[in-house]
Amino acid sequence: MMKSTAIAHPNIALIKYWGNLNDEINLPANNSISMVMSGVSTKTTVEFGSKLNNEIIINDKKATGEKARRVDDHIQRILKLDNRKTNYKIVSKNDFPTGAGLASSASGFAALTVAACDALAMKFDTRRLSIIARHGSGSACRSIHSGFVEWISSQNSEDSYAEQIAPEDHIDLADLVAIVETHEKKVSSKEGHRSAINNPYFKARLSELTKIIPLMRNAIKNKDFQTIGELAEHDCLSMHSVMMTSNPMLLYWQPETIKVINKVVDVRALGLECYFTIDAGPNVHVLCRQENADEIKEKLKSVKGVKDIIVNNAGNGTEVISDHLF
Ligand code: PMV
Repeated sequence: MMKSTAIAHPNIALIKYWGNLNDEINLPANNSISMVMSGVSTKTTVEFGSKLNNEIIINDKKATGEKARRVDDHIQRILKLDNRKTNYKIVSKNDFPTGAGLASSASGFAALTVAACDALAMKFDTRRLSIIARHGSGSACRSIHSGFVEWISSQNSEDSYAEQIAPEDHIDLADLVAIVETHEKKVSSKEGHRSAINNPYFKARLSELTKIIPLMRNAIKNKDFQTIGELAEHDCLSMHSVMMTSNPMLLYWQPETIKVINKVVDVRALGLECYFTIDAGPNVHVLCRQENADEIKEKLKSVKGVKDIIVNNAGNGTEVISDHLF
């Protein structure tokens, strides 16, 4: 039977991917660095067969419109690699809110890639899987690997893939996600990347990143928590400055987002080291040492408007599992 299921985790970017050299095949303008989030996951089952009718079900709902088109494009790309034409059925489930800046497209396209390739019995190494996943959603290429990951920017598709910088148990870092909103965002990151290109601040960001990326890579290798946190916080503000000054303006933050940022700054001033970072959504990721996670979690819970806190360590890469969703 041509059927397989994979589990993938989202990732939180410590150095962000924002803006493409090539929008069609997601060739990023800069290298990005991330950590896989152990506490949340996407499971996807893919089956191929001529009797199936190309049904896509995401979180118990039939996918339609742009969402269905992106999944179908990705499946057609994978079938083409195998010179095959057939129908499919896909069922995918997140155990976290979709579209709220928790990178559901990263875990979604990573799980879809690995399940589809496995169902077709195409045995690819992680570099190849990362390149395939990148076509679905850029940041998905980083979720193929475990731990701390860097995605290389290149003009050439074959050279733009993610690779591991350090394994999941390398450093005792926790990522506490303060959830302030669970609604789907209005502007997807896919559209957002396009708005960066003509922004003069984007050029300034890229030029600064050439210095910052090696610093972040080394900080991870050297288990230098303070530098990781300071660089991640700065890069978050740099990316959101580009978003806010783009046309159309992209303002992903909510009032509660700022409340959590201020809380992080206050908690740090009290001597409990923690740093914030935010992807394309209103929720705030708080980076801290594992030994301080419980105490910081309690402090974040006290912020009005924080609905939930998801606790992550550095997690695993995408894996095939035997537990099918249908
Ligand atoms: O992979 P995309 O198109 O969903 O873009 C992800 C963009 C950010 O989450 C904002 C940053 C990143 O590097 O993950």
